[in-house]
Amino acid sequence: MKTVRDLPVEGRRVLVRADLNVPLDGARITDDTRIRASLPTIRYLRDHGAEVIVCSHLGRPKGEVRPELSLRPVADRLAELLGEPVAFDGEAGPVRLLENLRFDPREEKNDPALAAELASLADVFVSDAFGTVHRAHASTVGVAHILPSAAGLLLAAELEAFARILENPEHPFVVVIGGAKVADKIGVIDRFTGLADAVLVGGAMAFTFLAARGVAVGASKHEDADGQEVARRAMADAGERGCELVLPSDVVIAERVEAGAPTQVVAADAIPDGWMGLDIGPETAAAYARRLEAARTIFWNGPMGVFEDPRFAAGTRTVAEAMAEARGFTVVGGGDSAAALAAFGLQNDVDHVSTGGGASLELLELGDLPGLEALRGASNA
Ligand code: 3PG
Ligand code: MG
Repeated sequence: MKTVRDLPVEGRRVLVRADLNVPLDGARITDDTRIRASLPTIRYLRDHGAEVIVCSHLGRPKGEVRPELSLRPVADRLAELLGEPVAFDGEAGPVRLLENLRFDPREEKNDPALAAELASLADVFVSDAFGTVHRAHASTVGVAHILPSAAGLLLAAELEAFARILENPEHPFVVVIGGAKVADKIGVIDRFTGLADAVLVGGAMAFTFLAARGVAVGASKHEDADGQEVARRAMADAGERGCELVLPSDVVIAERVEAGAPTQVVAADAIPDGWMGLDIGPETAAAYARRLEAARTIFWNGPMGVFEDPRFAAGTRTVAEAMAEARGFTVVGGGDSAAALAAFGLQNDVDHVSTGGGASLELLELGDLPGLEALRGASNA
């Protein structure tokens, strides 16, 4: 795939689709990782004499103007980080950020009229919004069919990291997967049991797997019979493919999630009635860490427990620290696991932290995404 380095940009107007969908508390940006991740492409373009028009969505305003989802605070932060003024929306300037694309109902419909309007602002298009490249929208797909287009530096780096996992990963290849539901991640689990030597399971989904094995999980969150059937099939497939699917041997439990409620560590098959599992236990965490130490390739997606609560953070912390210390090639999926890594201050200690949650999972599962397909089909004039 062509990157921005292959495009003539000197003296040209370049439309950059970035993913500046950052978490906000009112008008305060609580995590600017995605803005920082977009800087290399914008800087590259500025250093090579281009005029830059950046566009992004923020949240899910569903085609309506929602002032609290304005990108204005993002323009201010971008200017700060870039060290150059950033004109906003209708204002003029050599670096400009357009208002939230999803205020316009045509964005998510990939309406050709909006794609044409966006294309009319620029001479070339650079797609750098890895976090949104799984959406077939006017700014991710439509415009790439009109303008000469290429991948930005962030998108290129993301694709390179995922290619190293999907194409000939070095073995042992170990995957750590957590999060709420097996059903949500079965596509990636299925992909990984075909690629990895071991898949280590944590988070609430571990209780669905345990329940599927007939273990009594007390009041732990777990999926119903359908979800358990999905889990059972995943375990059978893993067995056939020679991949070890590893479940927790011990767990941290509590009767209630509320602060002050007593907790204890028990064997995973000894959860008392009415108690719920909220983290993997210390024996499990240590066993997972040993596996990561020996691995040559590691992918991690999803926390091991309710890590936002210090009582249930140890499992996720141990995995995060093991990732940071591992000698193998380490990739962390976006979303919750990236947030967990950052909460422990370890985001600079792994090889790649993805800026895309849903996008990275879909890429791993499907191997291709609409925004990538559109780029490959585009001209690079
Ligand atoms: C994200 O944060 O998941 C991306 O920015 C994409 O947003 P979306 O899930 O609302 O399409
Ligand atoms: Mg999403």
